[in-house]
Amino acid sequence: MLIRFLKSFPSISYKLFLLIVFLLTPFVAFSAGEKIDYPKQKWSFSGITGTFDRASQQRGLQVYKEVCSGCHGLRLLAYRNLKAIGYNDDEIKAFASENNVNTINDEGEIVERPARPSDRFVSPYPNDKAARAANGGAYPPDLSLIVKARPDGANYLHALLTGYVDAPAEKKVPDGMYYNKYYSGNLIGMPQPLYDDGVEYADGTKATPEQMAKDVTAFLAWASEPEMEDRKRLGISVILFLLLLTLLSYFAMKQIWAPIKNK
Ligand code: HEC
Repeated sequence: MLIRFLKSFPSISYKLFLLIVFLLTPFVAFSAGEKIDYPKQKWSFSGITGTFDRASQQRGLQVYKEVCSGCHGLRLLAYRNLKAIGYNDDEIKAFASENNVNTINDEGEIVERPARPSDRFVSPYPNDKAARAANGGAYPPDLSLIVKARPDGANYLHALLTGYVDAPAEKKVPDGMYYNKYYSGNLIGMPQPLYDDGVEYADGTKATPEQMAKDVTAFLAWASEPEMEDRKRLGISVILFLLLLTLLSYFAMKQIWAPIKNK
């Protein structure tokens, strides 16, 4: 029926339609993806035209700083990268200088200095062993790439952060472990990090665990892929360009062959 409908158009439209379907197939195929059962959240950054929500990212940075950074590093991000989510140079300078980094002075001794915008985010522990020792043997992973490193990363992270529930009666939860319905195996070494009003948002948004989980995920999704917006913009222009080029080549071909065909 659809085909008959399309065939009723001049043949060029039919071919064009097939071409467009052909070009769009990869998107449909990719978005089908693996099936994982984390509750699906609405993310401003999903889809091929999605962009980050600056206000949410800024709140997420606050959650990271006030809650997660006690245990998790973000070592692939430099303070100056925060410019991309709407901070100016002075704010970044002030933010960076709240942390200290080691440096070597003129006498060759290791001394501390305040971090600069060009420094990477300072990690909470000097090394992996110190991190494990402070967390009962569990290792709090660096969060720079976490949203990319887990399948369905944004939904997973949101689910994990809001997934702390009472363990079912038959499940034994050892000391230093916590029950989380979305963590694989359900026993995680991370205590529930988000509680009502865990932070006080500068913009007055109510800090529910749900809201904080959303914001910190939006922030970490950006940290995992700061170039996402550029990548999508480029992708869309390339597709438009290729479509246009295809059309042009088609009509050029028609014109070039016209004298021969008409003979
Ligand atoms: C008190 C320390 C502590 C705080 C605070 C904390 N975490 Fe964790 N986190 C851990 C530890 C320890 C692990 C490793 C758990 C394990 O291996 O069982 C972990 C694991 C994780 C994981 C990895 C889960 C996986 O799939 O492997 C993510 C993601 C995570 N934390 C995110 C966060 C975020 C986001 C925050 C802030 C809202 C946060 N954490 C706050 C200690 C902490």
